[in-house]
Amino acid sequence: MAENEKREQPPGKKLERELKAIEDQVLLYAKDLARIFAERKEKERQLELTRQQLIRSARIAVLGELAAGIAHEINNILTPATGNISILLMDRNNLSQKVVERLELIEQSLTKASHMLQQVLDLSRKKPEKREHRDINAILEQSLSLLKHKFIKNQIKVEKNLQPDLPELQVDDAQIEQVFTNLTINAINAMERGDTLRISISYHPKNSATKQPYVQILFEDTGCGMPPEILAHVFEPFYTTKEKGGGTGLGLFICHGIIEKHGGTIDVASTPDKGTQFKICLPVA
Ligand SMILES: Nc1ncnc2c1ncn2[C@@H]1O[C@H](COP(=O)(O)OP(=O)(O)O)[C@@H](O)[C@H]1O
Ligand SMILES: [Mg+2]
Repeated sequence: MAENEKREQPPGKKLERELKAIEDQVLLYAKDLARIFAERKEKERQLELTRQQLIRSARIAVLGELAAGIAHEINNILTPATGNISILLMDRNNLSQKVVERLELIEQSLTKASHMLQQVLDLSRKKPEKREHRDINAILEQSLSLLKHKFIKNQIKVEKNLQPDLPELQVDDAQIEQVFTNLTINAINAMERGDTLRISISYHPKNSATKQPYVQILFEDTGCGMPPEILAHVFEPFYTTKEKGGGTGLGLFICHGIIEKHGGTIDVASTPDKGTQFKICLPVA
């Protein structure tokens, strides 16, 4: 009996080994499958994100064109009005103080309206773009230095998380500074004393969609945040939730236009009562 067992053992062991090998192989296949599945899921997510971005960009482009058309018409009406007020004010010595004051008030309103329209028109015009190699960290520092008094006044902390030795980007520095300024002012408006604005800039060698290197700029605030019904419209021209006279609703529309002109993307995520995050990706040319 003992002899029989001895003889049967080797085939049993062999089978065990074979089974183990098959098991290992199956495990390997399973791991491979899981990886392929995860990659596919990630690709689908990226594709959906790109699709949503394209739809949003197309909608903003249509609204932008509409806004530019109206801005152009209104500008044509405002120009002679502004001109005539200037002519009247040239003769201020022959006018009563009250009339001069009223004319100056009208002139101020007209200038404000004209400036607003000009911003929409500038964005829509296909002007040749100024592009120079620039250090994004330096542009951000410049923008923040001009807003320092607002941070102090509103008691808001600023955390900077900048990456040194970033590659220089081909940008119009005045336009990029305007984007940083608009995002910062919006964040300040959304925050209360003691809140924090965190700005992070980092280099990424490969964009998962374009496969190109890019620089990512994050603006994260701990402000009031936004519900989805507001979030869906923030990049549209003249969309504002601020009280009458508080906002023009052009800030984010301009940011979107400038970043698109630079071949980049801008996205927003927000949670009510928690805060808002704007993410900009600019390609490294
Ligand atoms: N950081 C932010 N936190 C909360 N809400 C924001 C933030 N940035 C923008 N918003 C919302 O987006 C709207 C549009 O912003 P914007 O285009 O800059 O116009 P405006 O500031 O003139 O209202 C704001 O009115 C506000 O409701
Ligand atoms: Mg704004």
